[in-house]
Amino acid sequence: MILEKNEFMLYAISQNYKIGIKMKIAISNDHAGVSMKNTLKTFLEAQGIEVTNLGTDSEESTDYPDYAKKTALLVQDRKVDFGIVICGTGIGASITANKIKGIRAALCYNVFTAKMARNHNNANVLALGARTTSEDDALAILSTFLREDALGDRHERRVNKIKEIEKQNFK
Ligand code: RB5
Repeated sequence: MILEKNEFMLYAISQNYKIGIKMKIAISNDHAGVSMKNTLKTFLEAQGIEVTNLGTDSEESTDYPDYAKKTALLVQDRKVDFGIVICGTGIGASITANKIKGIRAALCYNVFTAKMARNHNNANVLALGARTTSEDDALAILSTFLREDALGDRHERRVNKIKEIEKQNFK
């Protein structure tokens, strides 16, 4: 049922990405996020979105910075439209992604925060916690994140201030 709803919501994406231009998404995860990654990847591919899997496919303990960094770098290089980073809580993955210049990673835990992350913060990476968010909720969060746009105006002014701080503090 949730999937059907999300599929409907994702129809909007095909309006933004004209025929022939596939939306591209990179996704990565540590050991805690294997199942959620697979669920989201299957869902995105069913919508015609090209997905690059940069996460581990093993549940053997590993280190989330190694994986979140890979996705953030692809977003930074504009090789993909958006990134998704997953770890147990989403905290470590989001902290890591935000260490890469140009990345605005948002740890979203419901549909409202996903909407705000795009509307107000122009987030380009979605962080999710596989141990804190159900896979059904993650699907709804992801659909909202992809469907919503940055609103501009005062929100753009604030994001530009983030970019200024980044310029002053990142190499
Ligand atoms: C791994 O046990 C866990 O620390 C990691 O997945 C993540 O939650 C870190 O923020």
